[in-house]
Formats: sequence, C-alpha cells, structure tokens
Amino acid sequence: MTDKPFLKVLGGETVSPPPIWLMRQAGRYLPEYRAVRAQQKDFIAFCLNPEAAAEVTLQPIRRYGFDASIVFADILLIPFGLGQKVWFTPGEGPRLEPVTPADIAHLSVARAREVLAPVSETIRLVRAGLPASTSLIGFAGSPWTVATYMIEGGGSKDRFAARALAWSDPEGFDGLLDLIADASIAYLADQVEAGADTLKLFDSWADSLPDPLFDRVVIRPTKRIIEGLRAQGITAPVIGFPRGAGPQAVRYARQTGVTALALDHGMDSHWARANLPETLPVQGQLDPSVLKAGGAALDDEISRLLSAWAGRPYVFNLGHGINLETPPEHVEQLIARVRGG
Ligand code: CP3
Repeated sequence: MTDKPFLKVLGGETVSPPPIWLMRQAGRYLPEYRAVRAQQKDFIAFCLNPEAAAEVTLQPIRRYGFDASIVFADILLIPFGLGQKVWFTPGEGPRLEPVTPADIAHLSVARAREVLAPVSETIRLVRAGLPASTSLIGFAGSPWTVATYMIEGGGSKDRFAARALAWSDPEGFDGLLDLIADASIAYLADQVEAGADTLKLFDSWADSLPDPLFDRVVIRPTKRIIEGLRAQGITAPVIGFPRGAGPQAVRYARQTGVTALALDHGMDSHWARANLPETLPVQGQLDPSVLKAGGAALDDEISRLLSAWAGRPYVFNLGHGINLETPPEHVEQLIARVRGG
C-alpha cells in the first residue's frame, strides 16, 4: 500500500528499525536554520513565506534523512488567522492580546482559512522537494492548548486563568474551543489537500487537568476535529500529543479517534505498553535533555526505548521538542544508533 516506513507504522505495522523524526526538527539548533531566520525578522511573516518555510522544513531532511518532515509553521497561526493580535519577541516567547469569550464574535474561521493559505503553498513546495519515502506532516495545536495562549496572552506556568474560565463560563469557553476546532478542521483539510499525508495535533498543555475538565477541554474538542475531518472524507492518519496527560492518555486514545499517540518522556513506558491498546501506534519518549547530553547516556536511553517498544508499531521521536542547545552531531549519533540497531 505504501513504501513510506512512517505510514506503515501509523497503519499498525511493526517496522524494525523504527522510522524516526524529531519534534521541532527545524529550528535554532541548526546553523542553516539560523541563517534563514536572520533574514526573517518577523516570525509570523516567516511562517507565511512559503519559500522560506519550505527551505527550513527541508533542511533537517537533507542533513539527516528523517522518515518524516513537518511543515514549518506554528500552532499560534490559528489565533493570528482568526484575527487576534499575536507577536513573537525573541527571547520572550509568544505574546497575544488576551481574548475573552465575548470576543468570539470578532474572530472569523473564514478569515483564518484565507490568512493561512500560504501554509498550503509551503506544503506543495516541500512535497516537490521530498524523497518519495519521506512523509509530510501537517499540524495544528489542539483547541485547549491554543485557547490557553489566547486567554492568558502567552505561555503561562499553570494555565490558571484558562482553567478558571473553563469552570466559570463553560458555555463561553466551550464556544471558543469549538471555534478553534472549526478553524483547525478547515486548516488541516487544506494541508491534506496540498499534500500532507499525516496530521498531528499538539496538546502541549494537556497536563494537570482534573478528569471532568480533561474530558471537556481535551477529549471533546479533539474528537470534534477528527470527526470533522472524517466527515469530509479525509482519511489521513492523525497523531495526538496530549503532553503530560499520564493515565488520561488511555481514555484520550480510546475516545478521540486518533490513529496514533505521541508520548512524552514522563510517561512510564511499561505502564503505557501494558495499558494502551496493543494495536495503537505510538511515537516518542526520548527525553530532549539526554539528546542534548549525548554520549553513553544517550545510547542507553535509545536502547531502553527500543526494547520498551519492541514488537509494537513504534515511531522513534522525542518526548517534546528538541532543545536549541542540542549539538547537531548528537542527532547524527541518535540516528546511527536507531538505524544501526
Ligand atoms: O520542525 C518543527 O517542528 C517546526 C514547526 C513548529 C514550530 N512550532 C516552529 C517554531 C511546530 C510543530 C511548532 C509547534 C508549537 N509552537 C507548539 C507545540 C509543540 C511544543 O513544543 O509543545 C507550541 C506550544 C508552540 C508555540 C510556540 N512557538 C512557542 C512557545 C514558541 C517559543 C519557544 C521557542 O522555542 O522559542 C514558538 C516559536 C517557534 N515555533 C520557533 C520555532 C522554530 C522558534 C522561533 C524562532 O526561530 O525564533
């Protein structure tokens, strides 16, 4: 059916050695990325510049020959496209002019689709430059994680304001999640149409939620996105990444409709193997800090994960994004070790 090892695993096959790619594989740890970035003063304009975005998407593929590429974009393009003020100040992380549920009326799904059209153009350019065996992942943030940035006005320690609002104004809050989900459905459908063969939903802030909130703000909107895509006849596999969900990841895997689960490095591997459906493809778990450290510690962790997930459909990856201080040679060591067995 497919000669792409990454797609075989997402289809439920066990492939040995496992396919490999890295979360945030395009980025500042690569000198060739920093060179392009230096020419692109505004980060959002960079993400919406198809030539520049395609170039940095392809850089890690050329250098390392990963089994999958991920379109260079950002989860905060959705709030930007919806009409929220979003900006990136170097060294500070993302900033947004906070919204409340009352602002929903001013946010437009149709506008988001139009503003984000250049991302589809990036995908077309990347597709044309990729080896036939390399997959291309399109992505969006999950509604909960995106909403936390929209409400808090940026990253926050514990998403307290977003959680309080979810409790105090459930109708308004769920309306905002639905709006983000609907914008994401259109955006992801466009990415598949442009040539993405896989989709990923980043729920970076899925940790520390009590069960009822996890079900309401993580599971329900994720399910809405996947059902929305399937209703349009889109069959591309969807990887869900409910970072930090712990045991709630089991419910997430069973109820959302995700094809595969990306696991963070804090998840107990033995517990996950015993408690997740045997046929569920799994990706991830290498601690980005051990990739930065390199050496024997890195080799040992690679061996541990390869044996922890042996015999299961598994994609080798990090448990979170690569750290910008990671020496590029450590990535070479990682790939040689994974591919060399
Ligand atoms: O190879 C790739 O994965 C590149 C595409 C990509 C980016 N961001 C580019 C980026 C992806 C998949 C993301 C996802 C993303 N963005 C997430 C979810 C994954 C995660 O790490 O939890 C989140 C939470 C964001 C929001 C975001 N964007 C933050 C918090 C930051 C600042 C932190 C940082 O690393 O500087 C960004 C900026 C950003 N997005 C950069 C890149 C390469 C660095 C910006 C720069 O070059 O100056």
